[in-house]
Parts: sequence; C-alpha cells; structure tokens
Amino acid sequence: GKKVQFGELPMKVQGTHYRSIWYDYKDCQVKIIDQRWLPHDFRIVALTNLNEFAVAIRDMWVRGAPLIGATAAYGVAISLSDDASDSGLKNTYDTLIETRPTAINLKWALDRLLGALTPVSEDELPLKALELAHQVAEEDVGINKKIGEHGLEIVKKIASKKPAGEPVRMLTHCNAGWPATVDWGTATSPMYHAHEAGIPIHVWVDETRPRNQGAMTAWELESHGISNTYITDNAGGHLMQKGLVDMVIVGTDRTTAQGDVCNKIGTYLKALAAHDNGVPFYVALPSPTIDWTISDGVADIPIEERASREVTHIFGHHEKNSIEEIRVTSEGVSGGNPAFDVTPNRLVTGLITERGVSDASEKALAKMFPDLAGL
Ligand code: MRU
Repeated sequence: GKKVQFGELPMKVQGTHYRSIWYDYKDCQVKIIDQRWLPHDFRIVALTNLNEFAVAIRDMWVRGAPLIGATAAYGVAISLSDDASDSGLKNTYDTLIETRPTAINLKWALDRLLGALTPVSEDELPLKALELAHQVAEEDVGINKKIGEHGLEIVKKIASKKPAGEPVRMLTHCNAGWPATVDWGTATSPMYHAHEAGIPIHVWVDETRPRNQGAMTAWELESHGISNTYITDNAGGHLMQKGLVDMVIVGTDRTTAQGDVCNKIGTYLKALAAHDNGVPFYVALPSPTIDWTISDGVADIPIEERASREVTHIFGHHEKNSIEEIRVTSEGVSGGNPAFDVTPNRLVTGLITERGVSDASEKALAKMFPDLAGL
C-alpha cells in the first residue's frame, strides 16, 4: 500500500511540536510535560535528580507505559550524573523500579540500561546512560509510527466495507496517545495515520475514571481536528449493541507471552461487550510492553492499587478559570482503586505491533518476535 508521509511529526500543541519528554541541551535538563494538569493547563517542568524522577512517575506527572519506560531511562542518566558509583547505580535501579508496579516498560528500560552499563567505567557512565535514554526514546517514536502504519491497514479495510464518506467509528479507553508515549501514541497512531490518509474516522473516547485520562485523549484528538465524542465509561456496551462502533482499539501496560492484555481498569469490560457484539477488539502493542516471562495475565500481573482519594475526588476546570479538586462522595467514604485489569487473549482480535498484526496467542507472538520470545 501507499505509505503516508508526514513532513513533521504531528503532535502539536497550539502549533508547536512537543514530545512528552526531551533533553534540553541549553539548560542541561530533562524536561517533561506535567500531565497532572492536562488537558487544562500545559506546564513544562524539569526533572533534576533521582527523587524527582521517582515522584514524577509515582504521582503520574508522567504516565503511560512507554513514557514511564523512557522517563526511567532518563532518570538513570541524571541520577548517575550525581552518583555513578556501584551503590549509586543500584540505588537508582531500586528506587525507580518500585515507583509503579504494572507497566512492564519500566523494568524493561531499567534492565536494558543496567545491562548496557555494567561494563562501562564510572566516569563514562552518565554520558553513556544519556545516550541509551535517547535510544529508548527514539525507538519508542519509531515503534509507534510503525504501529500506526499497520493499524492504518485495519482501518482501511473497515472503511472499504462502508459507504464512501462514512466514518470508521473507533472506541478507545484511557489515554494511549502521544502523552503516554514519547510521540504518536500507540492506540492513537492508527487514528493519526488514518486522518492523514483522508479516511474519515470518529473516535468514542471513554472518560476513564478515576483519573479521566480520556479527557487527555479527547484534547489531543481535538487539537488535530479528529472527530471525537467523550463518553462515560459505561456507555460503550450500549453503543456497540446499537451498531455504532466498528472497532475498539486500546493500549496496554503489560501483555503476556500468550497475549493476555493488561490495560487501564475497565478495558476488560469493553472487551466483553465487544465480544458479545461481534466488534473487533484490537490492542496497540509495542514490543517493550511484552512480558515474556509470564503467560497467565490474570494470575501473574501485579495490579496497582492507587489512592482512595482518586476515586472520592475529581479534578476539573472551574468556570472561574481555576483548576479545582472537589469531593464527589460524602465525607469519610473510602474509595477502592484498582488501576488496571486483564483482558484474556480469547477476547482480543489482534495485537498491532511494530512488526505487524499478531494473533493474541503464544505461538503467533513467538513467531512475530523469535528474537525476543523466551527472554
Ligand atoms: O495509569 P496510566 O495513565 O499510566 O495508564 C495508562 C494506560 O493504561 C495506557 O492505556 C497504557 O499505558 C498504554 S499507553 C500507550
């Protein structure tokens, strides 16, 4: 098929292209977009030491599996610029690994850096680590672009079966967009590619309580002129029953060797509804998100339990132009907050990887990634 060519990567905020993390050579600092304020405010902050990196990941200034991995990689570089001793390296690894438990990209990035840094001499360590962090970030961009190209083929196929001009209606959950990666996003990459190729699409965006990452997805789609509707988390099943969804596409925080998919809480319910209604359910899956060491996702993926307050309270933009947190429940009510769930492989139509679309099975994944499977 004809490849879509972009003059420039398309992730723009008011006309300027941003990545979600970058090294600012002028200030010699790692910069991020503080996502706690998105989509209401666009704030760039520098992360300058190990503790700041750990806080940024744990408290979700940065978030999304691929970006968590890239941030950890930059965190190693900055931490080693303060202390490149053996114990400094060990402390860096131990501090960053425990920031968030579910997204496997965190461990993937840390292991990759640790492995490549072990033979390096102490005074060369910080620079070498920075190079490796750049590599992790660049690779993520390339992977997500590829996911977009392969996902585009699926969108094209669906579009070809519809009357000309009718949009392909895609439902997504959470934010697997460019803020969740270094650029492009995973689940959004096929959307950007389809939009660029002139295929009309419409995106149903799940709100994604408790933290409403859907508001971020709606914001980024809106910024690119992609038609979308923000819906409550409970609306998807109804829309599918009414024939208003052509495909579901979500991201993932960890996918097992047999293709069980862990993603933001509520993804499983969407997969069940999709299955019941014959709606294809696709997962945009960069290979660093595959955990080759486990098979049964329900049994073996640790599910992060986050603070009660994320459920009992909500953030939003007040008419008076301030960003406010308000309590939803009566005082003293406690919230339960499992942050992820697992969709078993039988409910997954296909895994859109950087190498192509794979069935969600041990055999198919191992065939797609013979060099990685079993590691
Ligand atoms: O808790 P979050 O916001 O880090 O969770 C993010 C998700 O669940 C994303 O869908 C997933 O990381 C894939 S991002 C390309």
